[in-house]
Amino acid sequence: MSGALDVYIEWASQLEKALRSTVVGAIKLDAGSLRGVAFLGMGGSGIVGDILSKHVEGMLGLPVATVKSFSLPRYVGRGWLAVAISYSGNTLETLTAFQEAVKRGVAVAAVASGGDLISMSRKLGLPYVKVDEGYLPRTALPALLAGTSRLLEELLSISLGIEECVSALRDRGALDVAEKLARFLLGGIPVFVVPDRIYPLGLRAKNEFNENAKVVSKVEVLPELGHNDIVGWEGSPREWIKFVVLKDRYDQLLDFITSYIGELSYPVMTVDVGRLSYLQTVLYGSWVVGMASVILAKLRGVDPRETASIGRYKEAAKRFLESQGT
Ligand code: F6R
Repeated sequence: MSGALDVYIEWASQLEKALRSTVVGAIKLDAGSLRGVAFLGMGGSGIVGDILSKHVEGMLGLPVATVKSFSLPRYVGRGWLAVAISYSGNTLETLTAFQEAVKRGVAVAAVASGGDLISMSRKLGLPYVKVDEGYLPRTALPALLAGTSRLLEELLSISLGIEECVSALRDRGALDVAEKLARFLLGGIPVFVVPDRIYPLGLRAKNEFNENAKVVSKVEVLPELGHNDIVGWEGSPREWIKFVVLKDRYDQLLDFITSYIGELSYPVMTVDVGRLSYLQTVLYGSWVVGMASVILAKLRGVDPRETASIGRYKEAAKRFLESQGT
């Protein structure tokens, strides 16, 4: 069980190594005439699209879609770039959307550790990055993020600055923060509160506690939560819910909501994830919540590596596609 925690502890090295990933079959696209970028991927691979979408959108000023389904939105077509990300390379939603993108004449590229995504990319002569094998997809976030960044940098001749995250993953205090968070969450249902500028971190936190610690979890985003969930919290049972505010900087609304949750008598812990840039903040925060979710798994006596229910779902997805004749 400690194996999973060790993989998180070594994230800085994983990132450094993946920054040297080779882009196979790289072509140059004209970023100036690109109409949009779509990231295709599910779960621990799909989160890479969530994280990079805000960054890429800000840098290129283009529409960015994150596709977590079997099919692409209608507006994704010629002039778009689609990047399919699947750690195993065999996730059906991602493969189906990838094939649809190829059919539509979208410029397509892939990131995986192997599987059908790599073999199909080779066969079709599409650019791809093959990341190291042997991880659980969710623990390979630095490799997937660096692999995808390298791909985008080569294809679009841009620099995403992911290398600046290595130092954030060397923070010696992070494990202590993770321990405290895990102990706080023991016996509760985690509800993560984030401002919308770091929504991908909230989503990642929720997913990590689902998969590693086997607990249901929720993510609340400001300002939207102030218009609906805030009312729901008035009347919900207090005994299970534990709020975690992921704070990236001073924010008046985040401060308000932190006090308000306290006023409603819910336990609340604030974790300061703020670092110098968006990418550093999200990766550092993902590191802390990842370690905390594995520590909580240990405290709860569950194996963080097992995700039996995802296996069941994937079998059902296969039968579903077969029934559709695909
Ligand atoms: C398992 C995990 C899952 C997978 C998801 C998609 O560790 O994190 O969320 O990432 O089932 O599979 P891949 O990543 O292989 O495309």
